[in-house]
Amino acid sequence: MSKLQIVNYPNEVLEVECERVTSFDRKLTKLIKDMYDTMIEEDGVGLAAPQIGITKQIAIVDIGDESGLIELINPTILEQRGEQVGPEGCLSFPGLFGEVTRYDYVKVRAQNRKGKTYIIEAEGFLARAIQHEIDHLHGILFTSKVNRYYEEGEIEG
Ligand code: CO
Repeated sequence: MSKLQIVNYPNEVLEVECERVTSFDRKLTKLIKDMYDTMIEEDGVGLAAPQIGITKQIAIVDIGDESGLIELINPTILEQRGEQVGPEGCLSFPGLFGEVTRYDYVKVRAQNRKGKTYIIEAEGFLARAIQHEIDHLHGILFTSKVNRYYEEGEIEG
């Protein structure tokens, strides 16, 4: 188990378009494991490769429900609908929380660590986490979507 160093804003690596993954090898598996350990250690529900300095289309999400670990490699949103408004944070912005409007439902096509293509449908908080992580892979940060920032102590956690 290895914990990786999280890249904080401002760092230009957080704002670049990430490259698609083409080799699904042991190195990728190791990277995903290390990203998972890092996310858990940091108490996050998602982590994208640029946040550890790697500009590739790799992100993980685990909101702690029955969906488990979701591996988002080369993800594309196929369908989106509805609207949800709620608090959001990011491991690359320690202590910063803002209210962000997201789609309430998304249908996403992605690959897992073995390169297998799958479809996932998500709504509510899981859909929010997935949209946040996919944005990272295109250099888009949640701060560009914040309606308003929360004051310290305004939200739980
Ligand atoms: Co983030």
